[in-house]
Amino acid sequence: MSESGLKKIGVIGIGTMGNGIAQVAAQSGFETVVMDVDAGVLEKGLDSISRSLDRLVKAFEKSGGEKGIDPAAKDEAVNRLSTTTLSEDLLDCDLIIEAVPERPELKEKINRKLAELGYDNLLVSNTSGISITRLGAAYGRPEKFMGMHFMNPVPMQKGVEIIRGLATSDETYATVVALCHDLGKIEIAAEDKAGFAINRMFVPFCNEAVRIIEEGIASVEDVDKCTYCLGHKMGPLMTSDYVGLDTMLFICEVLEEELGSFYKPSPLLKRLVESGQLGAKTGSGFYTWEKYKASGVNPDVARYRIG
Ligand SMILES: NC(=O)c1ccc[n+]([C@@H]2O[C@H](COP(=O)([O-])OP(=O)(O)OC[C@H]3O[C@@H](n4cnc5c(N)ncnc54)[C@H](O)[C@@H]3O)[C@@H](O)[C@H]2O)c1
Repeated sequence: MSESGLKKIGVIGIGTMGNGIAQVAAQSGFETVVMDVDAGVLEKGLDSISRSLDRLVKAFEKSGGEKGIDPAAKDEAVNRLSTTTLSEDLLDCDLIIEAVPERPELKEKINRKLAELGYDNLLVSNTSGISITRLGAAYGRPEKFMGMHFMNPVPMQKGVEIIRGLATSDETYATVVALCHDLGKIEIAAEDKAGFAINRMFVPFCNEAVRIIEEGIASVEDVDKCTYCLGHKMGPLMTSDYVGLDTMLFICEVLEEELGSFYKPSPLLKRLVESGQLGAKTGSGFYTWEKYKASGVNPDVARYRIG
């Protein structure tokens, strides 16, 4: 029996975050159903989950069973996973985790549709910065709604920021804390204010790193090297490319709107998003990327200077 008492988890969106969330849910013993827009996207997402589980099996074999998972655990996780393109197939879930792109109207539409179809259980959003209270209102059952902000890559990162909306009930909050434990995660509580806790610190840090590039103070590679001296495993520019520059820009805008002009997004971040260079997922951002591996500094970024 799980600590949360939940049995069936739904995940909406099988992208960067959704596939990691679905993998961890299935690995942790939950019947898991993932919904996305079409069969091709679902197939790609499942493939990514399978490769990630294979890496864990390899780690198990290499470490003599100390790390990773055994091959039987991989098969069990795969057997607990199913996919669908229909919201109707999520209605018997005990809890649904929404992980679609960071667009408030899209997330609101999904929440409204679930309510219209008669879904009445817990719903959480993996949003990086949209008001939880706003998204809970769209669901129409704000007491059963809250934020569950997983970190990328989900199978590796232990922390999950958990955010109550204004009307989230104590019962919902306690169940989500228990779910974090069921998933082998550590909960980090934050209030529903722009950027919550993690992105309130992290996004301005990355935005400042971009300003350092724009002003010619240091190169892309050296900016990232600076942070190794701080004990970080990955620099702010490379991390931004991994997260997605569209998501980074959106969070900057949310911070600016709620907290003021200090948080204004840097022009270079905006220009990259305008040009469709969104980081690892599109093949270029601050770096150029091949199959999610950085292959060099983006020459457009290397020459860009202002101020
Ligand atoms: N990428 C990160 O590092 C990161 C970290 C923490 C939180 N987040 C948040 O997680 C959420 C998802 O981000 P992502 O990076 O995984 O995005 P992504 O673009 O990689 O994946 C989004 C997925 O949602 C699917 N989708 C779009 N519309 C849909 C719909 N109507 N119904 C079902 N599926 C739909 C897309 O097909 C895609 O597979 C965002 O809110 C983001 O802010 C992202």
